[in-house]
Amino acid sequence: MVKICGIGAGYVGGPTMAVIALKCPSIEVAVVDISHSRISAWNSEKLPIYEPGLEEVVKQCRGKNLLFSTDVEKHIFEADIIFVSVNTPTKSSGLGAGKAADLTYWESAARMVADMSKSDKIIVEKSTVPVRTAEAIEKILTHNSSKGVKFQILSNPEFLSEGTAIQDLINPDRVLIGGREGPEGHEAVLKLKGIYDHWVPEDKIITTNLWSAELSKLADNAFLAQRISSINAMSALCEVTGAEISQLSDALSKNTKIGPKFLNASVGFGGSCFQKDILNLVYICESNGLIEVANYWKQVIKVNDYQKSRFVNRVVSSMFNTVSGKKIAVLGFAFKKDTSDTRKTPAIDVCKGLLGDNACLSIYDPRVSKDQIHKDLSMDSEVKHVSIVSDAYEATKDAHGICILTEWDEFKTLDYQRVFENMQKPAFVFDGRNILNVDKLTKIGFIVYSIGRPLHQWMNNIHQP
Ligand code: UDX
Ligand code: UDX
Ligand code: ADP
Repeated sequence: MVKICGIGAGYVGGPTMAVIALKCPSIEVAVVDISHSRISAWNSEKLPIYEPGLEEVVKQCRGKNLLFSTDVEKHIFEADIIFVSVNTPTKSSGLGAGKAADLTYWESAARMVADMSKSDKIIVEKSTVPVRTAEAIEKILTHNSSKGVKFQILSNPEFLSEGTAIQDLINPDRVLIGGREGPEGHEAVLKLKGIYDHWVPEDKIITTNLWSAELSKLADNAFLAQRISSINAMSALCEVTGAEISQLSDALSKNTKIGPKFLNASVGFGGSCFQKDILNLVYICESNGLIEVANYWKQVIKVNDYQKSRFVNRVVSSMFNTVSGKKIAVLGFAFKKDTSDTRKTPAIDVCKGLLGDNACLSIYDPRVSKDQIHKDLSMDSEVKHVSIVSDAYEATKDAHGICILTEWDEFKTLDYQRVFENMQKPAFVFDGRNILNVDKLTKIGFIVYSIGRPLHQWMNNIHQP
């Protein structure tokens, strides 16, 4: 029986290993993590992350061919193939601070693998890493391992999106496997391909060299983020020219050269990947003397920051240039719908911006915990102006304005007549995700701002008696 060990039981490692276990009943999958609390949550009724469909998969396989453990050493020792899905945050100090990927967790995982391995193993890079990381990992492994033990490193980047992780894993657009050239590298690639062959059609499994696979992941996220910054930049222009962003997106989406996805204007992109990976790309370009290329990608992030601060400015300026002491309901805190993840969510910057103008925030998100929001907004003097509540009606009661920051489906179907009646007047809605029916809300009496809608319509509403 082939044994797999997955190091790192987070947003990537947990769902990925669970789906491998589901699709390969003949393979034993052990997921290990240094965090005891994470592992005990994976073994409990309430999983540590929310992801549609994940609970069903875990319940089906746990105790059969899927186990979660903190005994990292034992499972590394027993495994034939080791997937590494540890976190690679942006470095916060030292060389490359603020841009380069911090590979501390990766390095410590690699050293552990070197120490514990008494037989040949395939090491699979799952987490996003800078291009040529495999070279560094190879050095760590070969210089620290027992005599005669051989390692093959493969890059098999994860392309799942949070919120649709299980579907993305079960039915991927493609699976990318990069390996070393030569017979041993080739054999390792085939072995990993053999796992995906259980459920992924052959034509969707692409094999490349190691460096193409590593760089493809950074490129993929950079291209997606760039599309959002491009459409968001257009949204600012729409507001001042009378063009409508939804009409623009629709027109662009019908051009088959462009295609329909990732053209939704928003308050800005968030998530653990886009900003981190672009900064990492910027750092790699700079390290290679490619300053113009680095500046090109930096601009994608600048436009994203601009989009968030533009939103805050719109809220403050339209509410008579001050939100001081005013209750603002924040609907949604996660970086997108159907996830409990708040890493780099635009809601953090928007909330901090509003708090900077002394607003009182009442925040509701269907899946994000109170503790998490407090942690994310950890600014002692301001936290007293923040209350976190358990439904949208409570959040909006007596509020002067509503900011929609995550596109949760339930926000589309609220009883807005009831919401309006319980708010201060004039009642403002700032739709940072363009999910609401502006005409319907305007009829009820709201003053509605949505991203990329001609500003003269909005001004007319503001100036109505
Ligand atoms: C373009 C648009 O595609 C078309 O929709 C619009 O109406 C007019 O402008 P065109 O300029 O005729 O059409 O050629 P296109 O094939 O789009 O190429 C434009 C330039 O981009 C060329 O120099 C082409 O070589 C270059 N290009 C195109 C690339 O460098 N890489 C590509 O992948 C595609
Ligand atoms: C992303 C990539 O999509 C995925 O391929 C990669 O493997 C990991 O990073 P994820 O971060 O989970 O996935 O979410 P994604 O759906 O890409 O959204 C990222 C951010 O962009 C979210 O904040 C989302 O709200 C925003 N977004 C997305 C928009 O503002 N407009 C869009 O049209 C799409
Ligand atoms: P991602 O979104 O990339 O999955 P997470 O932070 O959710 O990121 O998950 C990464 C996981 O990796 C964390 O649970 C962390 O405790 C774990 N981890 C980090 N370093 C190690 C290590 N050396 N051994 C085992 N687990 C590790």
